[in-house]
Amino acid sequence: MDVPRSKEFHDVYFSAEDGLAESRHVFLAGNNLPDAWIGKDRFVICESGFGTGLNFLAALKLWLESDVDKRPSDLHFISFEKYPLDKDFIEKSLCHWSELGDILVKLLAIYPVDLSGNIYELAVMDGVRLTLIFGDINDEMPKLDSKVDCWFLDGFKPSSNPDMWSDIVFKNMARLSANGASFATFTAAGKVRRGLEAVGFKVHKIKGFGHKREMCVGIINP
Ligand SMILES: C[S@@+](CC[C@H](N)C(=O)[O-])C[C@H]1O[C@@H](n2cnc3c(N)ncnc32)[C@H](O)[C@@H]1O
Repeated sequence: MDVPRSKEFHDVYFSAEDGLAESRHVFLAGNNLPDAWIGKDRFVICESGFGTGLNFLAALKLWLESDVDKRPSDLHFISFEKYPLDKDFIEKSLCHWSELGDILVKLLAIYPVDLSGNIYELAVMDGVRLTLIFGDINDEMPKLDSKVDCWFLDGFKPSSNPDMWSDIVFKNMARLSANGASFATFTAAGKVRRGLEAVGFKVHKIKGFGHKREMCVGIINP
């Protein structure tokens, strides 16, 4: 399988080892899902880079496989993206995972054709909404009004994409976080740890996916 690459950042969208397994390890397990959403009627996930939508589909699959009585009846996934990919690119990137087949078809059916718009409110299925915000996260995040239960911080390496890991992003995470909100990210870079700690997150380093030594998880105001 050819791992999709960003032409802007010269980096891969997900691990060449197994992107879906990486997404489950870093973002789902890293945010203690599905346990974190048990008993909540409404649950909001906010992601810092939609890319191919792999993390969104991993979360949606977990929700579909969860006990109907225990999962939130309203799952809202919000994601920012400065360089939206087109449907063909997304399909080529993800069609390799047959287990995503049905939900990939669903995503492609609702995904915008015109990528020049700004905010798309998409009804994915009964109980699941996807808000795609196309633009620079530093411009768009301050306009967001929500209560976020967990954060997927996925925005290419801080060394090659410092804009994604700015004080504006960290401050807005604190502003938008629900009580006890969690985050998970593939990076353990000092700048990211310090930025999150400065706005009130308790940050822990844990084992990263595959050959990666470390990643970070944490909770706000524990
Ligand atoms: C590692 S990729 C995300 C992979 C994605 N979560 C997936 O499941 O395929 C990082 C994404 O962040 C986007 N990005 C980078 N800088 C950004 C910025 N300043 N604002 C919004 N999105 C940005 C990139 O275009 C890219 O799609």
